[in-house]
Amino acid sequence: MENEIENTIQNYETEISTYECLTQFRESLLNSIIKSLSIHAESNGLDAGCGIGFVTKLLAETVGENGHVIGLDLSKDFIHYAKNNNQTYNIQFIEGNVNSLQFDDNSFDWLWSVDTIWPGPKELGCPAENPLPIIKEFNRVIKPGGSVFILFWSSQKLLPGYPLLEARLNTTSSATAPFINGMEPKNHILNGRYWLEKVNFKDIIVKTYLGDIIAPLSKNDRHALNILFEMFWGESQSEVSKGDWKDFKRLCDPNSDDYILNNQHYYGFYTYTLFKGTK
Ligand SMILES: C[S@@+](CC[C@H](N)C(=O)[O-])C[C@H]1O[C@@H](n2cnc3c(N)ncnc32)[C@H](O)[C@@H]1O
Repeated sequence: MENEIENTIQNYETEISTYECLTQFRESLLNSIIKSLSIHAESNGLDAGCGIGFVTKLLAETVGENGHVIGLDLSKDFIHYAKNNNQTYNIQFIEGNVNSLQFDDNSFDWLWSVDTIWPGPKELGCPAENPLPIIKEFNRVIKPGGSVFILFWSSQKLLPGYPLLEARLNTTSSATAPFINGMEPKNHILNGRYWLEKVNFKDIIVKTYLGDIIAPLSKNDRHALNILFEMFWGESQSEVSKGDWKDFKRLCDPNSDDYILNNQHYYGFYTYTLFKGTK
């Protein structure tokens, strides 16, 4: 029993520190996206799937002291962390489910949701395989004339000099997760325009933003990239050739002599795609 509790605490700490690291890694890009959205000062918004609440804080800074932002997440642990670490006078953090929001119709001037409504199997932690009911729910709680901002991490190039290896690694299931074989193509994230149109959002805009990753890398960036190498390709051994797996380990294992992040000219990038609509 004591071991079980210790494991639970350790899992919680690992999960939180992973989120902290990836949040810091993406901060500058997410901040510039928020700045580009002309979110009004004094407006009130919802961050649906706020995680540890750091991005909620960036949104709250944008609306200023007379605005208000609610950060909502399914995870009790994340909400607990967010309340203790990112709480300010104009933020409220609450537990909730994007499938069925606890707010009245027409409650918010805007709703922001980043990397949360990934369509996919519930077993992979996705809220739903069909995003349309969630988008409908978002539409319900936004005021007429209000905006929805849905964002997803949409691509990356992380192995400069090894385009074929990277392309082959990217054919594996963990690299395309949570989109799995056999899923309805309309449920893929790049069809967000279709989702918004289907639920009657107007003036739909789609835009992709790019984050550069340039050496010399900070300690946090190196750690974040290690997390990403593992997340995208760490489980791919059975789906690639022996040679590709050896090369992946040679380039992406921090203990390897050929570790790619030790390249003083390292350059990579990643993208976030935004789908915006007006109710
Ligand atoms: C990849 S994280 C993104 C968190 C945050 N938006 C960010 O970018 O740092 C996905 C978040 O969605 C939350 N989530 C998953 N299913 C949810 C649901 N049905 N309702 C609300 N939040 C959910 C998870 O707990 C997690 O915090």
